[in-house]
Amino acid sequence: MSPGKHTILVTGGAGYIGSHAVLDLLQAGYEVVILDNLVYGHRDLVEKVLQVELIVGDTSDRPLLDKLFQRYDIAAVMHFSAYAYVGESVTNPAKYYHNNVLGTLTLLEAMLEASVNKFVFSSTCATYGVPQSIPITENHPQDPINPYGATKLMVERILSDFANAYDFKSVIFRYFNAAGADPSGKLGEDHNPETHLIPLVLQTALGKRESISVFGTDYPTADGTCIRDYIHVTDLANAHVLGVEYLLTGGDSEVFNLGNGNGFSVKEVIEAAKSITGHDIKVVECDRRPGDPPALIGSSDKARKILNWQPQYSSLEQIITHAWQWHQQRHK
Ligand SMILES: NC(=O)c1ccc[n+]([C@@H]2O[C@H](COP(=O)([O-])OP(=O)(O)OC[C@H]3O[C@@H](n4cnc5c(N)ncnc54)[C@H](O)[C@@H]3O)[C@@H](O)[C@H]2O)c1
Repeated sequence: MSPGKHTILVTGGAGYIGSHAVLDLLQAGYEVVILDNLVYGHRDLVEKVLQVELIVGDTSDRPLLDKLFQRYDIAAVMHFSAYAYVGESVTNPAKYYHNNVLGTLTLLEAMLEASVNKFVFSSTCATYGVPQSIPITENHPQDPINPYGATKLMVERILSDFANAYDFKSVIFRYFNAAGADPSGKLGEDHNPETHLIPLVLQTALGKRESISVFGTDYPTADGTCIRDYIHVTDLANAHVLGVEYLLTGGDSEVFNLGNGNGFSVKEVIEAAKSITGHDIKVVECDRRPGDPPALIGSSDKARKILNWQPQYSSLEQIITHAWQWHQQRHK
């Protein structure tokens, strides 16, 4: 297969994970069109770094989608666009169901109309809810504990029903915690507001924040803090290229976890960041937050086996080093 002949539509391609996936698609020889409403995306990264066509628009804009599918010969869609703030999804669920479910359904309907039938979807480990066993495999029960996770599970159900009813194939990726940045320093994480641990820790190292809050130090883990599975964003991006290739070569609908398989505790992350940045990082110990399980670790054996996915940057040192390189130049 010659990927150069295929154009991939990437929704949310101006965002954190989407932009890294675009970079990887370009490196693999694909053509890319980005659709992003820029609510959270970064035009400068698309224009200066990725240099691909950016259509500023919303996935719930059906006439725009119809025009887009007429204008470009899209072979597959990678769908990153969504709102992803868990806390906000609890206080404003309508916003999340509207964007993440209705926006996605509108896109899927436009795809059906245009006979584009290959879809790669950003789902999340939040669809599992509180883990009953660790490491979490793809057949672990899905019982989300917040509206954000519920919206992603709804889309998973829609995709499964589409696969049964239509000639429509999808790869669903359930990510654990995306972290790190492009190793060459071109791209990285720039959420506003930021809620993820590693960027918050690095912003503290840079003096942009006074301290980092650690929620709960009495969990049943070795050092008492929560353990999470951090997966390097470049490894995530690479899995997406493999996922699209899998669909383009006739693969059937599938679901894959994408994680590191190795958990790191909040304290381990902070200690590693102190040593990599050489800065002191002030920690404030707080009470546990409701709904935070002690440990979330995923098994990605299935993606390794079926997609031949081979993560390159699994160590905490690599993840934090790349993120630090990015944060220093982005927040100078
Ligand atoms: N970051 C993580 O750790 C993580 C973990 C699990 C799943 N995910 C999922 O991965 C995807 C990407 O996450 P991210 O961290 O890159 O987020 P992000 O906010 O950086 O990127 C999402 C992009 O989508 C755009 N967008 C949102 N709604 C849109 C719409 N209706 N139409 C067009 N564009 C729209 C935003 O402007 C943004 O550029 C999301 O679907 C998220 O739920 C992320």
